[in-house]
Amino acid sequence: MRKVTILFLLLCNFAIAQTYTAPADEKVRAKLSQWGDKKFGLFMHWGIYSVPGIVESWSINSEDADWIPRDSTVNYDEYKKWYFNLNKQFNPVKFNPDQWAAYAKQAGMQYVVFTTKHHDGFAMFDTKQSDYKITAKEVPFSTNAKANITKEVFEAFRKKDFMIGAYFSKPDWHNENYWWPRYATPDRNNNYDIRLHPQRWRDFKDFTHKQLAELMTDYGNIDILWLDGGWVRPKATVNAEVLSWGAPIPAWDQDIDMPSIAKMARAKQPGLIMVDRTVHGEYENYQTPEQKVPEKPLDYPWETCMTMGEAWGYVPNDKYKTVNKLVHLLVDVVAKGGNFLLNVGPKPDGTFPDAVIDRLAGIGKWMDVNKEAIYASKPIAPYKQDNVCYTTTKDGSVYAIYLLEENASLPLKINLKGLPKTAKTINLLGVKEKLKWTQLNNNVTIHLSASTKKLQHALVFKIN
Ligand code: GLC
Repeated sequence: MRKVTILFLLLCNFAIAQTYTAPADEKVRAKLSQWGDKKFGLFMHWGIYSVPGIVESWSINSEDADWIPRDSTVNYDEYKKWYFNLNKQFNPVKFNPDQWAAYAKQAGMQYVVFTTKHHDGFAMFDTKQSDYKITAKEVPFSTNAKANITKEVFEAFRKKDFMIGAYFSKPDWHNENYWWPRYATPDRNNNYDIRLHPQRWRDFKDFTHKQLAELMTDYGNIDILWLDGGWVRPKATVNAEVLSWGAPIPAWDQDIDMPSIAKMARAKQPGLIMVDRTVHGEYENYQTPEQKVPEKPLDYPWETCMTMGEAWGYVPNDKYKTVNKLVHLLVDVVAKGGNFLLNVGPKPDGTFPDAVIDRLAGIGKWMDVNKEAIYASKPIAPYKQDNVCYTTTKDGSVYAIYLLEENASLPLKINLKGLPKTAKTINLLGVKEKLKWTQLNNNVTIHLSASTKKLQHALVFKIN
């Protein structure tokens, strides 16, 4: 009986974890489908944590986890003080968002998501709700003409036709109505019982709504509001995913009132896509597997967000994935119907690390030849079989994308098993001469010649 109950609970949790509610608003649906065609986006984590090059925000939270390193010779309060004071050192004098947008465009990216405020509460925009912001006097960069960083980033990418996404952390560890200085801050949650201090939480909600209203009003057209910090949610929505984070679940609701945020935001930004990460339901218009690619296509809109290195923010000597690996990830995600949001951390001086520039250029070289298999494509069975991924586009073309191992020499013969269609023509993108191929049922054998040698990372066969 007990086993049955456990199984039942697991299944329930699994069902909850899968829940997706399609938005009712036509404008949101339209934008969602436009976004779904973009396929490839740039994510950026940039803030005061980039100055010393440490994990974003998390080290001021006293949860004990190996991914949250902290100097153990300094006591916690001193450490927090030091961290929060990093705003006084933020001075990215080489900040050039047009250049960032150019790199991203060249890589074939078509939308951007930028950290307007991470959990540490430092606003990368000119909020009127707090002085803990990029434009405050004590921040050296505040005198720079481009001080309102979020505005500059959005404008630069908009000029290059990117869709614009605002990352915003619901929790704010700098706000005294979230982490009340009267008490210790043992974990990521707000540190007082909201049932006993309802006014304090109302003040926090008010602050959050006002900051979001600023972002939705003064920063031009915004397409996506990407809300992080999934533990800020009504208790009733806690699911298996939240439990898996291992953080305590408070006895009270950390309800930020998403319906009224959505109403305000969409009055200013009609059709706005809302991503209330992991909460599921009406305000999570697409889901966001983090640092992983699902095994199979998901039957709702989704986006894998993943770091190009190992960290979200800039850390010195990060280990970056190779161009080969990144191309394969993009292809794998797209073949399963998702979008790929690839994250980089700009340096404290405002430039991208050399390795980032190198990887973006490498992906761009591949995309120049092969993007027609990516943009606006849909998944088609068998999706991914061994090292071949499949996509299809509106005109009925099917693309078989053969993933080449890093530095492997080109095979002379390629077998495509279980082709979704009988082929009439097959072309290899990036190669002009005719291909030699034979077909038996749905299996095709392709013979490659020496002229394909210059192709790297993944060969794209267009099948009609
Ligand atoms: C993880 C990190 C968080 C980061 C987010 C991006 O949840 O903990 O800091 O912003 O990923 O998806």
